[in-house]
Amino acid sequence: MQTELTFSPLAKIETELLAVLAADSQTVKGAEAKPVPVLLTADEAITAAAAAVLTSGEYKAGVNETVLLHSPAGLKAKRLLIVGLGKLAKVKAQGVRNAAGTAVRYTKPRGIRELSLALPEFNSDALPQAVPLHTLARSAAEGAIVGDFDADTYKSDRKDVGVTRFHLVAPETDDKAALETAFAEGVIVGESQNFTRSLVNEPGNKLTPTVLGQRAAEMAQAVDLGWDVYSTEKLHELNMGAFWAVAQGSAEPPALIVLRHEPEGVTDGPVLGLVGKGITFDTGGISIKPSDNMEKMKYDMAGGAAMLGAMRAIALLKPKVRVIAVVCAAENMPDGKAYKPGDVETAMPPSAGKPGKTIEIINTDAEGRLVLADGITYAKQLGATHLIDAATLTGAIGVALGLVNAGAFSNHDETFSKFEEALNLSGEKFWRMPLGEEYADQIKSDIGDIKNTGGRHGGACTAAEFLHVFAEDTPWIHLDIAGLAWIDETRPYIAKGPSGVAVRSIVEWVRSYQG
Ligand code: BES
Ligand code: MN
Ligand code: ZN
Repeated sequence: MQTELTFSPLAKIETELLAVLAADSQTVKGAEAKPVPVLLTADEAITAAAAAVLTSGEYKAGVNETVLLHSPAGLKAKRLLIVGLGKLAKVKAQGVRNAAGTAVRYTKPRGIRELSLALPEFNSDALPQAVPLHTLARSAAEGAIVGDFDADTYKSDRKDVGVTRFHLVAPETDDKAALETAFAEGVIVGESQNFTRSLVNEPGNKLTPTVLGQRAAEMAQAVDLGWDVYSTEKLHELNMGAFWAVAQGSAEPPALIVLRHEPEGVTDGPVLGLVGKGITFDTGGISIKPSDNMEKMKYDMAGGAAMLGAMRAIALLKPKVRVIAVVCAAENMPDGKAYKPGDVETAMPPSAGKPGKTIEIINTDAEGRLVLADGITYAKQLGATHLIDAATLTGAIGVALGLVNAGAFSNHDETFSKFEEALNLSGEKFWRMPLGEEYADQIKSDIGDIKNTGGRHGGACTAAEFLHVFAEDTPWIHLDIAGLAWIDETRPYIAKGPSGVAVRSIVEWVRSYQG
């Protein structure tokens, strides 16, 4: 999709489809209350063209509610699409992001290849709270690009109906440069989120750990990141006994993917370590999963893919902070060589001379925490001062938070508050979950240091405490995205399938550290 930011007066834009935003300005409550849809533009021609439908009562400007007008009088545009943002008082950048996605997803299946979207105009006394225009430009770019993605690459009769050109039309402003920059950033972030989604969509037979490593290396080369992709030998060399335990049961060798963003001249300050779970297929291993829904376990590398997408964006946005990503990719398979319940494995030593933690395996389906344990230790060894990991770690997080919020855990309030600020920009929903000694007690082992499951209760929290053992006191955030990495139903602004969740938030969090 080609993207462009323009400033022309709306009525003069020659386009197949011009999308404008509307909101419900109703403030009265009670039985009398009726929606009062208002356009978020002051353009007279558009106001006139939309007047009839807005006063008809048929259109309420609800969230992502659309209405299409053909051949609108007074406009050069062939079609006028009105996209609702819901209650005017509640409009945020996230609403504009989703509305842009909605406009694209409205356009796409109708064979219309090009559209323009008008950003809200503030001089139309439209938006009550001042969301900066550049933030909206960025969000709109992200939403449009994310909206254009469909997981249909394996359909043999696939008709490429993607939107080829997206124009964002901004009101005249003194600060065009800031708007251009923000828009370009939004394009980078949106495309990086889609990069993640395209990886997550790949089936296990196509995207083995080795192939994931190749895709990471190709991307790293294209955007100029430092990279190394290792396999079995390196796991042995580093004594990554936990990672290897999972990998050993598969005919496919593991991949240890390391990406580096080392901006010139930045020699001190934090080193951010991004660690991702890259299980390209999770059968559960010897503790095998039931067949129902097992096919979904191709997305068990979504955390790793999120880190790769985030690194792509970071390479292109060039924040002045050092970042290292470690993605631990393996297949979790039952096999004659597979690890077994009862086995005791030794994790990577935290430093030379110190022994690695011993882990009693209770359930081979709790494999994500094992590969992450060694990934976290390795990221620290590579110099990470702050850690963030992302993983489709537990079904329990979906039970706790539903499919609404992803889970976030942290051992460091200051680091977590930076992540919360990042959420304001990314519009993604994460909910902080507790760590604590009581959860840590649940994973004490009788015969070793820790065991890899802590029982049914608080499953997401005991999994996080398992990772905490390896993060130790290093400021660390753990993102459990198992409930949100895959969307089962198409929404107006995003296709069903891989969501690319966490990419935007991780990118914003990283940017908050730039000097
Ligand atoms: N990959 C799964 C978690 C998962 C579940 C991801 C559903 C996406 C959707 C993980 O490896 C797993 O199997 N976790 C177990 C842990 C249990 C054995 C302690 C789980 O959640 O059941
Ligand atoms: Mn599992
Ligand atoms: Zn898993």
